[in-house]
Amino acid sequence: MKKMKGVFALKEEILNLLRESFGSFVSGQEISEKLGVSRTAIWKYINHLKEDGYEIESISKKGYRLLVAANILTEEEIHPLLNTKEIGKKILHFDTIDSTNSKAKELANNGEEHGTIVVSEEQTLGRGRMGRSFVSPKGKGIWMSIILRPDIDPLRISLITQIAAAAVNTALTQFGVDSKIKWPNDIILKGKKVCGILTEMSGELTKINYVVLGIGLNANIDCDDFTEEIKEIATSLKIQFERDFDRKALMASVINNFEALYDEFEKKDDISNTIKICKDKSILIGKNIKVIQRNMETKAKVLDINEEGLLVVEYEDGTIKSLISGEISIRGY
Ligand code: BTN
Repeated sequence: MKKMKGVFALKEEILNLLRESFGSFVSGQEISEKLGVSRTAIWKYINHLKEDGYEIESISKKGYRLLVAANILTEEEIHPLLNTKEIGKKILHFDTIDSTNSKAKELANNGEEHGTIVVSEEQTLGRGRMGRSFVSPKGKGIWMSIILRPDIDPLRISLITQIAAAAVNTALTQFGVDSKIKWPNDIILKGKKVCGILTEMSGELTKINYVVLGIGLNANIDCDDFTEEIKEIATSLKIQFERDFDRKALMASVINNFEALYDEFEKKDDISNTIKICKDKSILIGKNIKVIQRNMETKAKVLDINEEGLLVVEYEDGTIKSLISGEISIRGY
């Protein structure tokens, strides 16, 4: 008997055997011999895979057959596409959940390690900034949260949002999508929001305990999934390009790009590539905007995004300020 393997490793190995013989049956006996586990254990893991959403046919005396290539964001599907060291080493996949950010926070509070990702096919209570809700219908987007434990000054936390914005934008570019970044946390496509980022933190004045970075990317959302009100301000890749996008490849690309930029920042204290992307792709620089802070709206012109990721604005009275956060309204974006 081979050494005991973890549940995730076994599921992945069974899936690989079924993939290798895609469309044909593989007997329980063959899987059992190859992986060194009992046929009862295999039956159990096949049921887990079915629960995850894999369509597997089981016929006695013939064995198991994978029917369709799965369009789900499980660890088994995403791992082969990742080139990261830490981010996404563990991916916890849900068919449905209230909010991946809420789950990730709960896990992080219980010591879950840096890099773990919570992803769900749908969210029933997806959360946006300012207590807003976030539409997250089943199988149509990438609703994920990354647990991070950065060793940085808590005052620089907003840079993590910038890193995520740069990573999503770069990933989209790799798929031929020319999107823009609306500082600090929205990705805009053809004037409407295609992705939102929600960064939440637990820590003290001088030390971060953990950060949960939530990313909601509207990949294959149909127009009807949005209310009339949301339709005015939000879009999806599918709505704009009239075709489905490969969610697995997109999710992996966001994670790969994120780790590259995150490591530069956390390990080498170098945020320059992130800032360059955020500036090059900024939809705000040069525009007249309204800054909304503590229910106050102030008109300003955006001059720049500085080397610390702050938005440099000039108010109508000529004063120049660097904003660390805030809600920005820009007409016609
Ligand atoms: C915003 O646009 O205000 C931020 C939206 C963030 C949505 C994502 S989806 C995954 C994660 N879980 C949540 O509940 N929210 C974030």
